[in-house]
Amino acid sequence: MSKQILVLPGDGIGPEIMAEAVKVLRLANDKFDLNVELSFDELGGAAVDKYGVPLADETLARARAADAVLLGAVGGPKWDKIDPAIRPERGLLKIRSQLGLFANLRPAILYPQLADASSLKPEVVAGLDILIVRELTGGIYFGQPRETKVLDNGERMAYDTLPYSESEIRRIAKVGFDMARVRNKKLCSVDKANVLASSQLWRAVVEEVAKDYPDVELSHMYVDNAAMQLVRAPKQFDVMVTDNMFGDILSDEASMLTGSIGMLPSASLDANNKGMYEPCHGSAPDIAGQGIANPLATILSVSMMLRYSFNQAQAADAIELAVSKVLDQGLRTGDIHSVGTTRVGTAAMGDAVVEALRSL
Ligand code: IPM
Ligand code: MG
Repeated sequence: MSKQILVLPGDGIGPEIMAEAVKVLRLANDKFDLNVELSFDELGGAAVDKYGVPLADETLARARAADAVLLGAVGGPKWDKIDPAIRPERGLLKIRSQLGLFANLRPAILYPQLADASSLKPEVVAGLDILIVRELTGGIYFGQPRETKVLDNGERMAYDTLPYSESEIRRIAKVGFDMARVRNKKLCSVDKANVLASSQLWRAVVEEVAKDYPDVELSHMYVDNAAMQLVRAPKQFDVMVTDNMFGDILSDEASMLTGSIGMLPSASLDANNKGMYEPCHGSAPDIAGQGIANPLATILSVSMMLRYSFNQAQAADAIELAVSKVLDQGLRTGDIHSVGTTRVGTAAMGDAVVEALRSL
């Protein structure tokens, strides 16, 4: 039976990078007999323009019916002034939460060819291979109540709520331990347990889950220290597990260790490994439409999709190898360009990956 993939290019550079990822996916489909079928729809600002909401019910239904979702990026200045309830980002949060995609895997791997592109010294980042496991459907992103109001004295005030239940913490902690188990068996749980009640529960529950993983070395770190350690000595980390907002921030930070956020893919999985795959970067409205965005994070998201949702490790490995070969050839988009390499645009980069994959 064929596998259905719903493709949501989104906004900004989303459609440009997705066009390249789709080329790579189509070739992989032929080469490895994946038997995948693609269909397309809108999410974010593009959906606001088409359907009046950032995630239409029919799109959500198609996403539920699909075997996997491939997403570009959402948001942009065009929709900055609209009703906050239909901001493009709300469509992204809604699809994550409605599909139950609580486990967000964000690997930060340094391709040796890009050691020069990192802002850190090559010896600090050489060989870097970190996996950030971010809780994606709870915490302050979704906590109720949240509101903006005017106080009796006329001053405006706003607040958000940061809730975590035991079961939410337990299931993401398990993903962290499971991932560590098949890697280097080190898990660092990141929290703010010196201040936040939700973090104190987080730490206690992670400790309980640890009892089932005696082979994994667990450590805890406060998020401020973790942010510092990531730029001081990032290679001390193997897998990091953390809450929704801390994971958002730390994964952007970790991405820069690898040279560019334009290189980082991600997988968001539900309890049955059904997933949505997207680059970690945003819609980059400042460079949208110029054909210069880096499509590699989206191409690598395709490889994560084949690996995690479709169990096609061979095809996933091949795509990763093709990306590596293109970097060997010295091809670079602007974000990873350095002296002595060849600057190319989005489509040329995608075509080069297609060619490298074809000739493997
Ligand atoms: C991410 C993004 C999103 C998030 C935004 C666009 C809502 O920053 O995927 O990291 O904060 O989760
Ligand atoms: Mg983010």
